[in-house]
This record gives sequence, C-alpha cells and structure tokens, in this order.
Amino acid sequence: MMQRAVFSRGALLAQNTAAALESSLAPRSAPLLMRLDRSMSSLTIPPPAALLRPLEVPNRYLFGPGPSNVPPRVLAAGGRPIIGHLHPEMYEIMNDIKKGIQYIFQTENNMTISMSGSGHAAMECAVFNTVEPGESVLVAVNGIWGERVAEIAERMGANVHRMVKTPGQLFSNTEIEQAMAKHKPVLFFLTHGESSAGLCHPMDGIGDICQKHNCLFLVDTVASMGAAPIFMDSQKIDILYTGSQKALNSPPGTAPISFNERACDKMFNRKTKPVSYLLDMTHLSNYWGCDGQTVRAYHHTGPVSGFFSLRESLAILAEKGLEESWRQHKELAAYLYKGLEDLGLTLFIRDKDLRLPSVTTIAIPKGYNWRELLVYMMKNHNMEMTGGLGPSIGMVMRIGLMGYNCKKSNADMALHALADALKNCKKSKV
Ligand code: GLV
Repeated sequence: MMQRAVFSRGALLAQNTAAALESSLAPRSAPLLMRLDRSMSSLTIPPPAALLRPLEVPNRYLFGPGPSNVPPRVLAAGGRPIIGHLHPEMYEIMNDIKKGIQYIFQTENNMTISMSGSGHAAMECAVFNTVEPGESVLVAVNGIWGERVAEIAERMGANVHRMVKTPGQLFSNTEIEQAMAKHKPVLFFLTHGESSAGLCHPMDGIGDICQKHNCLFLVDTVASMGAAPIFMDSQKIDILYTGSQKALNSPPGTAPISFNERACDKMFNRKTKPVSYLLDMTHLSNYWGCDGQTVRAYHHTGPVSGFFSLRESLAILAEKGLEESWRQHKELAAYLYKGLEDLGLTLFIRDKDLRLPSVTTIAIPKGYNWRELLVYMMKNHNMEMTGGLGPSIGMVMRIGLMGYNCKKSNADMALHALADALKNCKKSKV
C-alpha cells in the first residue's frame, strides 16, 4: 500500500517532469488540446525520462576479447535501409554470406548458414540438432566454452562426460581417443580458440579419431576465426561455428555455422524433435535455401541489419585474403608478446606456438589487484582489457587485438596503457 503510494508519487513526478520537458520543447503553436490530452492519459506508467534524452555511446578502444571495434565500412553497412527478411534481395545477401562463410571455414558444405543470434545460439543449435536426450556427449573442458557446452547438453537431457584440464592445457589425441572409446559419444566438443585462457588448440588427427568412433566432431572458433588457421573439410570437422564480433569485426548478434554430410545425416534422421523451435535446422536450412526447396517459408524474422554487417565483414576478409589475415594476426601477436615481456610481464601460455593470436593472456603480475589495473586503463586510457572468464578468473588478464584492431599502433597504445597502469596502481606487499 505504502509502496504503491510512494511509487505513484514518483511516477507522477516523472510524468510531470516529462510533460514539462515536452511542453518546453513543443512549438508554441502546438494545439492546447494535444497538451491537455496528455494530462488526461489513461497510462499509469509514464514514458521513462531516460528515453527522452539522446542516446549516448562512448567511443572506446575495445582491446579485450570482444566485441572488438567495428570498421566504419561495416557500421555503414548495418545502417543501410531495412528491407524485408524474405525479399529476393535479402536472399541474395544471405547467399553471399553463405559463400563467405564457406570461404572462411574452408568448407564446401551446403548446410552453411548464419544464426540469428550470438555464438551461444550457434553452440545451442549444434548441440540441440545433433544430440537426442539420453545420448552420450564428450566435452573437452579447459576453459569456459567447454563448461558451457557441457551445461547446454545436460539441460537438453544428454549424458555428458567431461574431460577436464586447468585453463590453457592441451588434450592429447591419445587422451581424446581413450575417452571416446570409453564413453561412446555421438558428439565430441573441443574449442579451437579458448579465449578465456588464450590457447589455440591443435586440431590435426582429431577428426579421424571421431570418424573411427562414429562420433561427430564439433569445434568452437568464436575467438579464432579469421585470426588463426582452421580447415573445416580437410581437418574433418563435422560442425564448426563462430561469432561475428571478434576477428570478423561485425557487431555482436550473428553467428556463422556449418554442418557436413555426416552431421546432416544425424540431425535429419532423429527420432525426437530438437528442443528449440527457433534453432531447429529443418526450418533454418529452408530459411537459408540449403534444403533444395524452391520456396523459403517464414520461420523467424532474421536480423536484417546484422546480416548486412556480416556480409560486409566477410567481404573485407575475402578482399584481404584469409592467409594474409592469419599472417597479420600472428605477426602482431609476436610484437605484443615482446612488448609485454619487456614490461616484465609473463605470458600465461608458455608455448608461443599454442597461443591464440587474437587474444593474449598475461599471468596476473605479482602483488597487483588485476581489477585495479583494468579500471585504471579504462578510466585513464579509455581502453578495455579484461580479466579471466569462468575458470580463468583471477589467473589472467586478456588483451584482444583482432581484425580491424590488429595494428601495430594499437599494440603500442595497449602496451603504453599497461605500463602506465603498472606504474600507478598500488602494488601490495604479497
Ligand atoms: C567472450 O567471448 C570472452 O572471451 O570474454
């Protein structure tokens, strides 16, 4: 009762403030009736005062693990006029996106689309479509992404087996094969670019092991795609996905994914329907024109502007060339490693050949509070770097220089900000 009265007074105050603001902005000639109408409104919830102010978005150096800064060309593509999601021009754009994904994944798979959603949507799509409740799933956990997939698979009723290592550690092919022989999974998950630890996991030979054990091989490349080599077809990866917001440099919200014949065989011959309607590949394959039907039926309304941006970011990568992009990321990462070591910092992944070129992890320097360092850089340099994620929290700080941000001048800026933070943040005595 009391609460309601307080709320009503607050609401009235906001309403009056909004009305006062509105009337001060209204042209003198606005009909009195219109203004009176507002005071006689039937609404109990006033328009939020916050929305009567213009949108404010700071310009920041996004040197964390993503989202990364988006090039003006991609931003401009996202600002093009909206067209219908089922217009023929949109289908053309989706076809272009499909070709771009085939290129960056190095695959000829017909079943190649972009999810209307972030990397998590692709993760769920892969699991929901290829696994049925009660089936066995094997997950390599050496950072956050394995943890996520294991939880997703458990939620849909799979029988999940985790192979767990501390963040940044590798799984040998022998270990993978032994676990596969023991648990007889229908799906094995491994992260290529483990952004929480800064590890780029070797892929060779694992696809063969999966084929031998009649298991699908699912790989997450959200943090590595475009920055580190991966070859979906020749490495016998059955399902591969990525996200738009890292080295691809699109805004967050779209996520390329591809399924090969083996994966299609499993997902289109199931006994039960996938738990999600939105992520059901029988519908999505039709929406993307991958199912051989002449008519694409309505399933959901795709993120039209997000697809424009994704197309543009794929075009930039196609123009530059994948190999050149890998080379640039590797070269810049080596430059960054040297600069970090010159500052007296220790890289978290010791073996430089196993480091993820897009996201570099630094062991937290002794005696420093990592949060203080990050806050200092944000406040004084307008720059985002981050701490660890999931199991790597408290172990690492992360610097991401990817795609558009993959430039020597940015590495210099990041090193300068870090040096300044190390100098100015209080070091405790531990
Ligand atoms: C998110 O993708 C992260 O690595 O922080």
